[in-house]
Amino acid sequence: MKAQVQLSSYENQPKSITGCNTTRPDFFTVDHKAQKSTGCHPGTRMENISGMEDRKDEAFIFGDFTLYPQRRLLLKKGKKIPIRNRTLGLLIILVERAGEIVNQDELMLLGWPRVVVDRVNLRVQIHALRKIIESKDSIITVSGYGYYFAKDVARHEVTDDFSDAKISYEELSFSLNEIVGREEELKKVMSRFEDHRLISLVGPGGVGKSCVASAITKTMMTLPFFHSVFIDVPSLMKGEKIAESIASQLTKNETYTSPFEIIVESMSKHAFFLVLDGCEYRLEEASKLVDFLLNRVPQCHILVTSREPLFVDGEVLHQLSPLSVPSEHLDSEEILTYPAVRLFIERASTYLTELELHSRDILKVGAITRKLDGLPLAIEIVASKIAIFGLNELETLIDGVFLLRMSGRRTAQPRHYTLGNMLEWSYNMLTANEKWLLGQLASFKKFTSLDDIIQSVDTQDIEIAELHFLVESLASKSMLSIKRDNLKRYYYMLEATKIFMHEKLSHKKQILK
Ligand SMILES: Nc1ncnc2c1ncn2[C@@H]1O[C@H](COP(=O)(O)OP(=O)(O)O)[C@@H](O)[C@H]1O
Ligand SMILES: [Mg+2]
Repeated sequence: MKAQVQLSSYENQPKSITGCNTTRPDFFTVDHKAQKSTGCHPGTRMENISGMEDRKDEAFIFGDFTLYPQRRLLLKKGKKIPIRNRTLGLLIILVERAGEIVNQDELMLLGWPRVVVDRVNLRVQIHALRKIIESKDSIITVSGYGYYFAKDVARHEVTDDFSDAKISYEELSFSLNEIVGREEELKKVMSRFEDHRLISLVGPGGVGKSCVASAITKTMMTLPFFHSVFIDVPSLMKGEKIAESIASQLTKNETYTSPFEIIVESMSKHAFFLVLDGCEYRLEEASKLVDFLLNRVPQCHILVTSREPLFVDGEVLHQLSPLSVPSEHLDSEEILTYPAVRLFIERASTYLTELELHSRDILKVGAITRKLDGLPLAIEIVASKIAIFGLNELETLIDGVFLLRMSGRRTAQPRHYTLGNMLEWSYNMLTANEKWLLGQLASFKKFTSLDDIIQSVDTQDIEIAELHFLVESLASKSMLSIKRDNLKRYYYMLEATKIFMHEKLSHKKQILK
């Protein structure tokens, strides 16, 4: 059967019809040969987020818009337009082949490789595209066959070097629906990348480091010029090196001799944003790799998350604190504005669909988040038990070891399944002296200065200088937190850590009996 192309009803007729099979393909089967024969450049594959294939850097200008396929960037009058990756991919195909009818099956193969999707998805994307480029008649539907781009397009080769592209935190325009109360934090971290190439987001387990890191990565992916790679370090397989995991994201060719070669080569071509999430699990390996990258790849910006710093040259530390909690004596309306409270209510409402909170309940939620020190993981876990225990009982239960044993989401990583698991891991990484000091500090008042510690800890077996060092080391490993009041530093232990240490000590006493 010949292709049935209805052109007569369109004013903007295509210049030619190419890239289409003479035999009309069956719309419900995926024709892989068609994909190969499209002549469409591999860089236009919409799954190819990193776009590492070599291709000429070109710009396509139509009306007020400039499209950079290689940089995966669309500008309107010089300003970046937010556009989803898949929608952008479709635009690239259509603009690169402006004036040709591109068969809808071909578009679907390129847009949704490896999956069979309903054609309605394509229509939705085309509709979104028409809205973005503010013109209904720029993309013409050829009934039952495909689409063509009907605007005049000027094609230019781009010669400017975009390697020194700067990140601007003003570009932070993504929706913050999924993440509660980190707006300022996100802007701060992003803005620090303007002058620094390595930021380490440091804080205790469950404080939200990975959450913030993924929000930043999402933003980076929408910025011009940056290619991103995100490595979840704890989920690497035993024996799998971080560098190998990065290299495997940068190339599909698995025959390389050294992952470092691939990394240096790929990262030198583009401005690069690398996230190494959860480095506390591989501190030494991560430090060496980061040090190497900072020295060898000048265009690479790195975000690290870890319970403790890497301590490499050029590292800028950003301490992530728990979510802020309401103080006592606030009214329910004020309490509701606090991020820790918002997170509790949001999570609780997914477990109890008819969650009804009266003023006294909101006061209780405020008190619970205060007891949990605003630690997001603890808040999520406790909120998930609301249907079983109710607010009153929860408030009492979280005072004891029950807090450590409550399990959260089944889908959570094992290390986050309970607070006990999370703390046990951190505790096991401490030296014997650090464990001893942490045990002593568990019975101190909430905020303690270094002087208080020196006076109160039994220093018979330990030098004062060593004590200083141990306190700093516990703080650096995020087992102690720091609060600054005027110029004074106070150390404190999160409530969950305190309960954990009391349990450890009582267990030890029982063994000694
Ligand atoms: N600001 C936040 N808004 C919503 N959920 C959060 C926030 N911070 C943390 N969480 C949730 O708390 C849990 C622990 O956070 P995560 O980022 O994994 O902590 P970390 O990496 O510091 O150990 C996760 O389930 C995460 O989704
Ligand atoms: Mg994490």
